[in-house]
Amino acid sequence: MFPETFVAEQLAVTSFDGVVFDPFCGRGTTVFESLLRDRDAAGCDVHPVAACVAGAKADAPSRKEVTARLSELEEESAGFEAPAMHGATAEFFELCFHPSTYAEVVFLREHLDWRGDRTDRFIAALSLGSLHGESHRTPNCFSNRMPRTISTKPRYSVRWWRKNELTPPRRDVFEILRRMAEYRFESRPPRRRGRVRLADAREAGARFPSLRGTVTDVITSPPYLDTTNYREDQWLRLWFLGGEATDRLPPHDGRHYSADKYKDFLTEAWAGVAPLLAAEARIVVRMGGRRLTKEAARVTLLESLRDGLPRSVSLVDEGASSRVRGTQANAFRGDKPSDTLEHDFRFDVV
Ligand SMILES: C[S@@+](CC[C@H](N)C(=O)[O-])C[C@H]1O[C@@H](n2cnc3c(N)ncnc32)[C@H](O)[C@@H]1O
Repeated sequence: MFPETFVAEQLAVTSFDGVVFDPFCGRGTTVFESLLRDRDAAGCDVHPVAACVAGAKADAPSRKEVTARLSELEEESAGFEAPAMHGATAEFFELCFHPSTYAEVVFLREHLDWRGDRTDRFIAALSLGSLHGESHRTPNCFSNRMPRTISTKPRYSVRWWRKNELTPPRRDVFEILRRMAEYRFESRPPRRRGRVRLADAREAGARFPSLRGTVTDVITSPPYLDTTNYREDQWLRLWFLGGEATDRLPPHDGRHYSADKYKDFLTEAWAGVAPLLAAEARIVVRMGGRRLTKEAARVTLLESLRDGLPRSVSLVDEGASSRVRGTQANAFRGDKPSDTLEHDFRFDVV
């Protein structure tokens, strides 16, 4: 995730006041921080977890709506029996969730319309935050002991739980969700509402027709070269949002290993964003990758922007470069230092 301060700093130095857009919005830091600063904002992401969480932050329901919907769901869920799991992951689910917690989780999975309804999306996003975590330290997660940031693989998790003789705690999902909702509503949601879509950056122009020609600031961070596999890391949350109960990936998982293919991908993404841009716009990019030098990042970005946008693009600023600290993957690899570098660039487009 971007630090909030990164977005705040970028917004503080722009003289534009059109729409802020993030074509790779992740958990929605750009969109949310922009809304908080009274700017119109929108974004998209291909990852359902990202689109759900960012969408919930950008377009929150009222506290009353959340409370009422939670009561309704809780009533309806009484007596619900989750269908038995079969196959390779059945053992995982038995050890991950207490039977009564599992029934509530499956009920929510089957009944929340997170794509179409703002209140359900908010409750789904809260559920994603509590779905798994360090249950020995917090009463606010549903699962047996697991990292909170990434979903560990089913076979590994089962082995580990068995070896450490860990059984899933009985957790009341609705009680936890009410607590988490109260916590969220301690701070006021932004006055403006943002738009987040589950969409590919390469189709941004087509997916946000009402924003054509209105975007003056793009603040974004594309998927990093040669690093995280966002789907594999989040397989359990993807299951909760309606995906299959598997961490197995299709042969091509969208990760970029080759610098050339990565550049082509970025070119297509900028071409997708092009119809949204106003006559004058600014594009801020934080780009990262394993052993990615600043020079290589600059060249890839400039070439992809110039190939993708039918406009004049100039590099106006280069920010700091830094080594990524505390990445999700690294948190589970002990103290090994990361070799992933991040670089910031700012471009003017006219
Ligand atoms: C480095 S992360 C962005 C993190 C974000 N700045 C935040 O604060 O959470 C890159 C994001 O790009 C998304 N992504 C990958 N390919 C995409 C595509 N073709 N279109 C849109 N989003 C994509 C990933 O799912 C991931 O959430």
